[in-house]
Amino acid sequence: MYQGVGKMKILAIHGSPRTIRSSTRKLAGFVLEGAADAGAETEIIDLADYRIIPCTACDACALNGICVNDDDVPALLARMNEADAIVFGSPVYVDNISGQMKVFFDRLADAIHYQVLAGKFGCAVATTAGSGGDDVVAYLNHVLNYLGVVSVGGVSIATGEKPGAVDAGEPAARALGEKLAGAIRDGYVDPAQDAILADNRAYFTALVLENRDLRTEEYERWVRMGWIR
Ligand SMILES: Cc1cc2nc3c(=O)[nH]c(=O)nc-3n(C[C@H](O)[C@H](O)[C@H](O)COP(=O)(O)O)c2cc1C
Repeated sequence: MYQGVGKMKILAIHGSPRTIRSSTRKLAGFVLEGAADAGAETEIIDLADYRIIPCTACDACALNGICVNDDDVPALLARMNEADAIVFGSPVYVDNISGQMKVFFDRLADAIHYQVLAGKFGCAVATTAGSGGDDVVAYLNHVLNYLGVVSVGGVSIATGEKPGAVDAGEPAARALGEKLAGAIRDGYVDPAQDAILADNRAYFTALVLENRDLRTEEYERWVRMGWIR
């Protein structure tokens, strides 16, 4: 049940470097329009406009959650934290997500380990010329689950590179947005995803316990959440 103050907030983040000319952005926009019709406040982020330095595996964030690089990732994470739901979108690049999206995801490893976005809902969109759309949607939803976020589904559109072809996805994308807003408002239970999220938490528990003296706040949150007994 939605217990937030004010309007439900839904944030879309897409990884196309074509920003406002992007088909993926347009498809994510349809999701947000459906959610807005259902009463949500919405926002879209063009990841390519932000400075995101690739993870160098220095492991410094393990100490305190803070990256040694000074860039836009903390601000992006703060906006994800403020949202009730997150929409991920990516064009298909060589049958996978775009590099922009992957560099961002790598920087979310600490947020994944400590499950800082748990309790939110999400969904995914992808566009492609022809191949890989469903696989990319599945991967984006996998990352949402990794973050502790329950997905309500996804839409992918193969455009054949025809102008306007992405419009064919409007009804499904709007319906997905309405479903996402409904999940925030009324709750959404998916036992299969709940089991995945529980398995992930069980796996990350070792890390949270190992770092309890360094990351005491996170450790205490895990105890409060009943994830560590
Ligand atoms: C670097 C690159 C790689 C791509 N790889 C694929 C691919 O593997 N399969 C495919 O069907 N389309 C591929 N495409 C086409 C895009 O997925 C397609 O044009 C997509 O709709 C672009 O979305 P955007 O407008 O949001 O950037 C690729 C495009 C680029 C620029």
